[in-house]
Amino acid sequence: MRSPRDFFLPLAIGAPEPPRVIPPLASRMIHFFDPSNARMVGKLPALAPTVDVLLGNLEDAVEIDNKEAARAGLVEVALTVDLGTTSLWARVNALDSPWILDDLTDLVLQAGEQIDVLMLPKIQGPEDIHYVDRLVAQLEARAGLSRPILLHAILETARGVANVEEICLASPRLQGVSLGPADLAADREMKTTNVGGGHPGYLVRADAVNGEYDAPRVTAQQDLWHYTVARMVDACRLAGIQPYYGPFGDITDVLACEDQFRNAYVMGCVGAWTLHPKQIEVARTVFTPDPDQVAWARRVVEALVDGAGAVMIDGKMQDDASYKQCQKILAFADLVAARDGTSRDGAAGSEG
Ligand code: GLV
Ligand code: MG
Repeated sequence: MRSPRDFFLPLAIGAPEPPRVIPPLASRMIHFFDPSNARMVGKLPALAPTVDVLLGNLEDAVEIDNKEAARAGLVEVALTVDLGTTSLWARVNALDSPWILDDLTDLVLQAGEQIDVLMLPKIQGPEDIHYVDRLVAQLEARAGLSRPILLHAILETARGVANVEEICLASPRLQGVSLGPADLAADREMKTTNVGGGHPGYLVRADAVNGEYDAPRVTAQQDLWHYTVARMVDACRLAGIQPYYGPFGDITDVLACEDQFRNAYVMGCVGAWTLHPKQIEVARTVFTPDPDQVAWARRVVEALVDGAGAVMIDGKMQDDASYKQCQKILAFADLVAARDGTSRDGAAGSEG
């Protein structure tokens, strides 16, 4: 048992207080880089103004022989590269790996003021978050940090999905959750081989007419990730934190990437991972509210004033519930407009 009063107490003497609210942050694209790759690191100053979040990846996709160089490289980036107002996040190695203890220790002790969020892979349940929560608090206290580092869980195991609500509620420093479709597919033993995206075998087919089973029938591929994204969004909103779609591995197929990102956006996600510069504009397009939808939302909010009663606009009934949806869209539009230096309607520099 634990008193709810204790939930927001620091977990180590001298650690900063955990946040009561996760501040909304424009994080439409979490752009991955390998800090052991000098060429990629050299591009960061130019890349930073084009993305909302830069994430130094220490986990999968970093060669085993480069793990230590990646960790040291990320500390170096945090301390020396001017990223302007772009957030710096880190994806550390898994909790059962030989690198995680040094990942957390070095990042928090050496670059804790510069790193905003630690992304944690292969989270299985709330016990994983509790472990990192306490350890990070101890390290924050030792480093004398002025503000708490936030945590972000990747949903990429069957057990993690089964425990997603408890994961989201495990710590006040949990900032959000990303779907990790590649590891999740492996853990679930799905019969796929991709990093995210769909599969032509996952489809529905129109019924046969007059028993003509062999006649051509329309099929439509379905979204393999619908169930998991929906569960993740509900769990995140329950906890007051942010949901994200993760990676889309087919870099050349920007159209399918856009569709996958848009499914997640419409379902409630606020951003996705970008693995290549090509995907940055895709994420910006998808996760920036459409100006026509923003204009419509503004009409509804202006027509209903305080959200009470019902009005008809262009033949569509609007009431408190649609008013609230429109308010959320306007708030999100304001958030990304502030990041882009535009008005919420998309015009550069003007008042919204
Ligand atoms: C991401 O880490 C994934 O496994 O999809
Ligand atoms: Mg993974």
